[in-house]
Amino acid sequence: MKNQSKHLIIGASGQIGSVLTTSLRHLHGASAVVASDIKKPSQELLAQGPFEPIDATDYDQIFSIVKRHNIDTVYLMAAMLSANAEKRPEKAWDLNMTSLFHVLNLAKLGHIKQVFWPSSIAVFGPSTPKVNVPQHTIMEPSTVYGISKLAGERWCDYYHKTYNVDVRSLRFPGLISWQSMPGGGTTDYAVDIFHKAIANASYECFLSEDTALPMMYMDDAIRAILELMNAKIDNIKIRSSYNLSAMSFTPKALYESIVKYHPSFKIKYRPDFRQAIADSWPNSIDDSFAQKDWGWSPKFDLDALVKDMFKHL
Ligand code: SER
Repeated sequence: MKNQSKHLIIGASGQIGSVLTTSLRHLHGASAVVASDIKKPSQELLAQGPFEPIDATDYDQIFSIVKRHNIDTVYLMAAMLSANAEKRPEKAWDLNMTSLFHVLNLAKLGHIKQVFWPSSIAVFGPSTPKVNVPQHTIMEPSTVYGISKLAGERWCDYYHKTYNVDVRSLRFPGLISWQSMPGGGTTDYAVDIFHKAIANASYECFLSEDTALPMMYMDDAIRAILELMNAKIDNIKIRSSYNLSAMSFTPKALYESIVKYHPSFKIKYRPDFRQAIADSWPNSIDDSFAQKDWGWSPKFDLDALVKDMFKHL
């Protein structure tokens, strides 16, 4: 057990937050991990350990939970994702930025010791190279979500340099999980498709068949968070956010892997507004800084991911 540290997950009902909460509870014990969300928690999450309702844009609420539970590490997983953010730009900016400032300020004032905050491949834009995007490159995101994540990265770096805040971050690709559903993102198709396949339904994909995007299995994503947070402080050279990579695939390649398990499964492609978002993002990512600084290495490729999804679903 790690030296009695206490963890708060803000956004614990979400796709990453729910799996992260369970993993941290296995590692540190249920009472050392406080889950919180504005959404009502699932019965499963409630039964596991402490839960606090929280509005991530309300500093006083976060502060009182941090104090009451003696929290020293906060994982800020609450955010509005890319597709939803295009529908409500100002609301997305407010949620994504205000919550980050609150948590960074708690660290700046010494109320907490460590912060994890997820960034995204959405920080890249149409002028970024498409293939093997390096850590340092042109960043001109064209989505509200990407703008908020890029601004957030700059603030994380600023709070580290100026106030010595120990904030750590990863630029997540699309995440695929059997435990939880994504909501309001552009890479959501890669989870939805599995649920349609097991329901023996057909799937109408909102991206075109040849849209290649960086993707990652949730097991790898959670392990990346834990490894980054446990890495020695001197090894963390990047305080904006680390590029992180596992695999890249198109809807067609994913469909072809799934159909091996469900031969009668059918797919149709009907791109909607999310196609333009996907087209503005890279196809693949170079994560050599994460490899070098804290030893990152993914375990799941497309075949392993599909196999594991069907094992669990
Ligand atoms: N999965 C996210 C989205 O599609 C990207 O970070 O919005």
